[in-house]
Amino acid sequence: MDTPEVPVTMPRIGDPAPAFTARTTQGDISFPGDYAGEWVILFSHPADFTPVCTSEFMTFASMEGDFRRYNTRLVGLSVDGLYCHIAWLRTIQEKMVYRDLKNVEVTFPLIDDVSMDVARRYGMIMPGEATTQAVRAVFVVDPAGVVRAIVYYPLSLGRNVAELLRMVVALQTADEFGVATPADWLPGEPVIVPPPGSCGTAKERMDGEVEGVECVDWFFCTKDLPETLIEERLARS
Ligand code: BEZ
Repeated sequence: MDTPEVPVTMPRIGDPAPAFTARTTQGDISFPGDYAGEWVILFSHPADFTPVCTSEFMTFASMEGDFRRYNTRLVGLSVDGLYCHIAWLRTIQEKMVYRDLKNVEVTFPLIDDVSMDVARRYGMIMPGEATTQAVRAVFVVDPAGVVRAIVYYPLSLGRNVAELLRMVVALQTADEFGVATPADWLPGEPVIVPPPGSCGTAKERMDGEVEGVECVDWFFCTKDLPETLIEERLARS
């Protein structure tokens, strides 16, 4: 009898991250339960021993400390098996050079998903792009196990890992300070107040009656949020 196929689904922003258990290069994991209280970047790549994926893994691994500073774990996935993962990560450490990176050790878990169960559950297989490989999907999952952001890249395009870190810091800043972040925002730049959806005190703000808030028009008000305050509240030393 055929094994029933896992339905192709895709969690949306605001949904609980679909639960699964998996074998990884760092032992078995139960997701998202094992990461309760932490943020996670769950990301898929098409295949081990491929150049774009290699450059991405080296970059993710070199920035793992930056993610950990913001209470964020990395978890990779491809539809390759565990021994292939181990051989690839060893090759990366022993041989690969990318930009100024070499001897890079990948210490975050890489999921063995030969069955494609997790990839199907997370909508990582996009048949128009490839039927036997996952695309470059990224799910940002918060400490309560809720999907907070989703990014998809095609096979040929390596991800901007600094942007993924920026997303995590921006999401945490929005949660912590009750603000929104404008285009290309970086910590230390003005933030949007109040977040979209509430326009209650527009007149007071426009009239300059709310201290520290500057309005260009009734719907576009900002305030300073020093980087030191963000670091103090969100970053670990
Ligand atoms: C790569 O990582 O280099 C790659 C993987 C699959 C298709 C195209 C490129």
